[in-house]
Amino acid sequence: MSDTYLQLVSGGVPATIAKKLGLPRPVRLRRTDPAAVDRPLTPGPVLVLSDEASTADADAVAEGLLGWDLDVHRALRLGDHARWGAVVVVLTGLTHPAQLAAPALALTPALKQMAAGARVVTLSRPAPPAGGAGASDPAVAAARQGVDGFLRSLAKEMRAGATANGLVLAEDVEVGAPSVRGGLRFLLSARSAFVDGQLLPVGAGGAEPADWARPLDGVVAVVTGAARGIGAATARVLARDGAHVLGVDVPAAGESLAAVMNEVRGTALQLDITAPDAAARILAAARERYGHLDVVVHNAGILRDKLLANMTADRFEGLLAVNITAPLRMNETFAAPGTLGGQGAAPRIISLASTSGIAGNRGQTNYGAAKAGIIGMTRALAAPLAAAGGTANAVAPGFIETDMTASIPPVPREISRRGSSLQQGGQPVDVAEAIAFLASPQAGGINGQVLRVCGQLMVGQ
Ligand code: NAI
Repeated sequence: MSDTYLQLVSGGVPATIAKKLGLPRPVRLRRTDPAAVDRPLTPGPVLVLSDEASTADADAVAEGLLGWDLDVHRALRLGDHARWGAVVVVLTGLTHPAQLAAPALALTPALKQMAAGARVVTLSRPAPPAGGAGASDPAVAAARQGVDGFLRSLAKEMRAGATANGLVLAEDVEVGAPSVRGGLRFLLSARSAFVDGQLLPVGAGGAEPADWARPLDGVVAVVTGAARGIGAATARVLARDGAHVLGVDVPAAGESLAAVMNEVRGTALQLDITAPDAAARILAAARERYGHLDVVVHNAGILRDKLLANMTADRFEGLLAVNITAPLRMNETFAAPGTLGGQGAAPRIISLASTSGIAGNRGQTNYGAAKAGIIGMTRALAAPLAAAGGTANAVAPGFIETDMTASIPPVPREISRRGSSLQQGGQPVDVAEAIAFLASPQAGGINGQVLRVCGQLMVGQ
């Protein structure tokens, strides 16, 4: 579905009027362009800042960025008309919140010289969980937790499609680790257009792909609900990145499914995911066609919105059956040892949650329960998948322009659309890019996490 307001205010007199009236002024986001794969990773030079204790790490990060043919600077000098494409703020050595002031204030002048679609990315260490073991010095914990509030607030101040996100490196993970470089590259790139205000924990594991443009070469992935919306976009992006795709959807959507699968040279499988033998049939189809199955994307889902006061059993139970019971049942097969992965590809299970499952949403008690359930399921799968050398993660979209959200009444739809820091809904491709990233070898250090693709939706996050 198209966003007419965004098209209207993206330039000229309407843009000026919107500015004068203090109305939202969303801009077109920097997204990947299949016709320009050799476009630079960032829309301008990259500045690497740090607190004093993190200088060595910052030097290592800058060195690594040079390997990606970027124009990297360690100080603020920039030509008169140049604009920063990204600022990476290395805070891995923070031991007291007061140390955050220097790098934050060093960022101040750079923020006035950012390119459209620029990125700020912080690298920091995790604060210890409440009552948890490990680093329990209150000042260290305050400094590390402080990065969270700093980053989320900064993201709300970014303009012109620029975003701010962070990677939170596990204690034993170096800044040059493949998982950190993979996460950094994703956050700097156009692939993360609608990811904003988020700190993503990164552990050890993962590997840099042989070819960054085709990280999924030879991987076999199944996408449920692939006939339209986010599922169809996911099939396209996975195929672009080199994967063979098996697309699943209900028989009623057979024609659109066939069209999408023809486009990506994939395989169509008409199947209702609530069928008790759904996983067995998917596995059999993948093995027959490709010899193995590596990546499962649990994307199929439905909406049955009603206030709980007016809820009916068929709406509540019917939604749970598709959105959570079916993925749970299918994972009994997919997560069993030796089922996923083959020919060098690691097992991956990626499930579609929703910001409604994190913050809750009026009229969505059924949907919120199912989508929060997806998050619980993902966390529980992390350990068994890790034991098999793989990962299980969830992607939580906010408001994405699809047929599903087109069915929301106009006023709440417009409020949801403008309620993110980027003042617009995301496109299906934005969610697809996040899914493809989590499926890739460079994301092997991210496990049991929820990656929001919501433009920092104001509700709850
Ligand atoms: P959509 O309604 O456009 O597409 C969903 C697809 O799933 C359809 O092709 C449908 O036929 C298929 N499907 C439904 N039930 C099925 C079943 N029992 N078996 C096989 N296929 C089935 O939905 P959209 O917007 O693309 O959403 C995809 C996923 O993303 C869903 O899980 C949704 O809950 C989630 N999501 C979407 C958001 C959005 O703003 N569009 C926000 C948050 C989460």
